[in-house]
Amino acid sequence: MSSVYGLSLKVTLFGQSHGPAVGVVLDGFPAGMAIDEEALRFQLSRRAPGQSALSTPRVERDEPEFLSGVMAGVTTGQPLCAVIRSASQRSADYGEALDLLRPSHADYTGHVRYYGFEDFRGGGSFSGRLTAPIVLAGALCRQYLSAQGIRIAAHISRLAGLTDDPIAGLPAETDFSGLQRMTLPTLRPGLSEEMEAAILDAKCEGDSVGGCVSVRVDGLPAGLGAPFFDSVESVLAHLLFSVPGVKGVSFGDGFALADMRGSEANDPFALGAEGQIVTRTNHAGGVNGGITNGMPLLLTCVFRPTPSIAKPQQTVSMRTHQEATLAVRGRHDPCIVPRAMPVIEAMTAIGLMDLWKERAACVRE
Ligand SMILES: Cc1cc2nc3c(=O)[nH]c(=O)nc-3n(C[C@H](O)[C@H](O)[C@H](O)COP(=O)(O)O)c2cc1C
Repeated sequence: MSSVYGLSLKVTLFGQSHGPAVGVVLDGFPAGMAIDEEALRFQLSRRAPGQSALSTPRVERDEPEFLSGVMAGVTTGQPLCAVIRSASQRSADYGEALDLLRPSHADYTGHVRYYGFEDFRGGGSFSGRLTAPIVLAGALCRQYLSAQGIRIAAHISRLAGLTDDPIAGLPAETDFSGLQRMTLPTLRPGLSEEMEAAILDAKCEGDSVGGCVSVRVDGLPAGLGAPFFDSVESVLAHLLFSVPGVKGVSFGDGFALADMRGSEANDPFALGAEGQIVTRTNHAGGVNGGITNGMPLLLTCVFRPTPSIAKPQQTVSMRTHQEATLAVRGRHDPCIVPRAMPVIEAMTAIGLMDLWKERAACVRE
């Protein structure tokens, strides 16, 4: 089932782009957590469209509403259902999509998969809109993890050929919180302006650009995860690949490991300041054998350029079964990456909370 995920924390996602609401059910979320509504709204606002010239001018307020599992702002431990009602809908913009298949969208695959009964309006269940409840769920998990001393940070490590400094080598005490307040979160001063210019250039030409989001998680204990199917990499990749537009996920030095020797790629063990076991380097990204080793977790997601572009593209008409030309109309992000930042952080939080709960459940009494 594609809309249910989880081992110890079950996440059910529902809604369509042009439906009355999108939402999420969290089953297994612990009782007794006082929800920081301001922090939750802040995460939702980072994803919401219409925030800058870099995103679609669609206005969606993304107001969270809890239907169950919360009493007086505190989680009850029962299934937590939260919805975000839809405000901005312009189905007319998508009239053409009923006929002409939008290249690199799910119009064709969704049509085949659901025997023609799919809700195609605005991308239906394949829309980036479904990431709003993911951010909501992730914000709750993030609050839970933060109380355990776990911090999640992310930056745009690459965009339109521009590369940021690595987040991996920075000291654990670095304050990464400012990144969340940037439209284009980067570490190197001046780089976000260059990236913004590259996105606006593409937009002017009726085109779009892609990029990479790199995540660093500090404060994780050693011992989360398992070998094989529920390895930390398997769990997180499963979640991260489900984000629309993600075309690659790697951990630690990722694909660069292919060009290294063992002597370069291995992370030698050592003793830290308090006698704890650490590694001198972190090429593996904090995971050995599918289990966290206590070092920062490092991962990177590759986003494709936004598929909806104003430039004319070749396609096929489902109505006439002839080849045709399509210039996608409507309001679209010229780059998915800025709005996807909180989504990637949210998916990371959901996966880590699931692994945290799974580990807690198998502890010896
Ligand atoms: C937050 C977010 C916003 C997105 N906004 C758009 C958009 O405005 N226009 C568009 O064509 N695709 C957008 N996408 C990407 C498409 O939904 C996605 O590329 C498409 O459904 C096909 O899926 P795939 O790229 O994973 O194969 C967005 C994705 C995310 C995560």
